[in-house]
Amino acid sequence: VAASNEAGSSMFISFEGPDGSGKSTQIALLAEQLRSAGREVVTVREPGGTPAGEKIRAILLGEGGAVPVDPRADALLFNASRAQLVADVIEPALARGAVVIADRFADSTLAYQGYGSGLPVEELRGMIRFATAGRTPDLTLLLDLSAERGLARKSGSNRTRFEEGFDAAFHERVATGFRSLAAAEPARWRVLDASAEQGALAAEIAQIVHVALSAKR
Ligand code: TMP
Repeated sequence: VAASNEAGSSMFISFEGPDGSGKSTQIALLAEQLRSAGREVVTVREPGGTPAGEKIRAILLGEGGAVPVDPRADALLFNASRAQLVADVIEPALARGAVVIADRFADSTLAYQGYGSGLPVEELRGMIRFATAGRTPDLTLLLDLSAERGLARKSGSNRTRFEEGFDAAFHERVATGFRSLAAAEPARWRVLDASAEQGALAAEIAQIVHVALSAKR
């Protein structure tokens, strides 16, 4: 009982943004900060995060030799990984009162497969609803950065199929897509300038999350 009192209310936070926007660094800083405040924090990354999800990730990111994947197959694979992650990790963590921080979630499918690859966004939304059983983040932080700057930040060796195999216009559409999604749902999204200094950005994120957690109590 003491543990659940201390835990406070659960919260599902997702981080979105173009490749190289610094999501993983900011997620690590936020997780550390919340843990030192006594919260249980579960971090997940998409695609992956479960044994099945990691296998799907290897296909999607072309680990061990890239295989061509049609955008519709891409969308289904990302959502298969997501369905497993929601069922096995995210829902149980939220039920315990944890803060779940996701390095990408369903909005990445809308931005990459929808805005980027041109699949119909409304059809993707239906698929996502099915995969997630309707679970959506309480708060989504967009680390906004021009696609060009994001790609320049990533070194050749840690580039994925999505960074290697698509042109600059694709990544520009993805960046624009994220901004449109944020503008359409301002109650859930906060847009942050990912080119800001790391410490200042971390402080801004900590403040936003603090306010959101206080509002949920
Ligand atoms: P990351 O591990 O660097 O975030 O790489 C994941 C890549 O997969 C990234 O380029 C974005 C892409 N992606 C999609 O295209 N659709 C999705 O639904 C997700 C979660 C990621």
